[in-house]
Amino acid sequence: MRADIDIRLDFSLVLESNLRNGEGLDAPMLAEAVRRAEEAAARIAARSGSGEIGFPGLPFREEEARAVARAASGMRRRFTHLLVLGIGGSALGAKAVFEALGGPSARRGLSLAVADNVDPDAFFPLLRSLPMKKTAVVAISKSGGTAETNAQLALAIQALKKANGRAWKDHLVLVTDPEKGVFRRMAASGGFVSFPVPPNVGGRFSVLSPVGLLPLAAAGVSAERLLAGARRMEGIIRTEKGEKNPLLFAAAVYAHYMIGNPKPVQVWFTYGHGLDRVAEWWQQLWGESLGKRRPDGSRFGQTPARAVGVTDQHSQVQLYQDGPADKVYTFIKWREGRAKGNVPRAGFAPDMAMLGGRPLRDLFEAEFEGTIGALWRAGRPIVRIEIGGRDEEHVGAFLHFWEWVTAVVGEIGGVDPFDQPGVEEGKKISRALMGEKGSENLKAGFLDATAGRVSAEIRIGGRRARGKGNPATGGGR
Ligand code: PA5
Repeated sequence: MRADIDIRLDFSLVLESNLRNGEGLDAPMLAEAVRRAEEAAARIAARSGSGEIGFPGLPFREEEARAVARAASGMRRRFTHLLVLGIGGSALGAKAVFEALGGPSARRGLSLAVADNVDPDAFFPLLRSLPMKKTAVVAISKSGGTAETNAQLALAIQALKKANGRAWKDHLVLVTDPEKGVFRRMAASGGFVSFPVPPNVGGRFSVLSPVGLLPLAAAGVSAERLLAGARRMEGIIRTEKGEKNPLLFAAAVYAHYMIGNPKPVQVWFTYGHGLDRVAEWWQQLWGESLGKRRPDGSRFGQTPARAVGVTDQHSQVQLYQDGPADKVYTFIKWREGRAKGNVPRAGFAPDMAMLGGRPLRDLFEAEFEGTIGALWRAGRPIVRIEIGGRDEEHVGAFLHFWEWVTAVVGEIGGVDPFDQPGVEEGKKISRALMGEKGSENLKAGFLDATAGRVSAEIRIGGRRARGKGNPATGGGR
């Protein structure tokens, strides 16, 4: 399957010839930045070629996508609802693609709920709202050792058993490492249907593996078409040269705004239904992949922020325009939206008469252009991206593109974009605080290190708690 994709990246507003305030890249800077990006991309390609990292190869696992699609179609025949359990990279990709493609109203598959939090006030009502006789549960954890997903799974199994008796097992699918971890052992001992997460693909790079593909296919999205779009993107970024290569140009620009002219924050300003969930996916990808210490101990990273057009024009743009020059902006829109409709001619005060009879989309587009123009005039560096189709091919290509950009920027920055020592540490501490066997020393060390804080608490009203501490740590104050 060959996909036609049409994605336009406009870098004109990071060029010094347009910004003219020292914030942009001039021609020699750009050439040098692209050359560095080229070297870094070659190193990532070599790591992929040796099998050390796996995300670039995911679009070519077509047989696996077909197996996923077959399993998903079986699920669609038997169930009406799908509950996905997972967190971080095990959840954000499916949410992003599903919403980007139009969400529930645009699909014919199972009704999708993604539970990526253990907040009891959200999780219990969600579980109670699902018809468990007609609900499939897909539990996703690459490591199998994530406390949140394990707790969710235990509760979901309890609910499945209550509703289905011994048949509960037919409702559960596990997506996890092919060999290791709690979930893999569970799949083997319980005989559950399972799909593998390739060991060389980390959570936030895994949307095009069964992690994202299975829930999406069950919800009515075409896994094969997602991969076809990503394959097309892979072909483009592997063949285009120098400044004609979108990956190299993008990586050069974003690395420049982290190293040459560091901007601590990047804002994704999305104009288009569903794109905010894509921004949420990118936030994890960018934050967790790049926010690292280099081997020499120096720090790297950029805070990924989201804004939604037009809503946040009335919330954030004042800051963006007149506040600190500490941000680079990425504006993203669907080239053409779906819904059509005109504002009525009647009912306007004379001052607003220009709106009457016009497509509502004209206003949306004018606000997009106007905001970019205003920020440009304020001297802010801006990348503008238009996605030419709201379909699987475009979304697959777009996500795959950003995985590559992230990987190359990390490589330029001298960090490993594929590990997450901080997240792993947090997981260990939460399991230890919950009383994991063998983690007693970790818990004691953590409690020691955090004890003896000088108090600076002010209570405003409320009742004074008596003798109660944090139940997880067992401590009182
Ligand atoms: O990107 C990552 O590696 C993380 O965000 C993980 O996806 C997240 O912590 C969940 O891990 P797991 O899939 O092992 O449960």
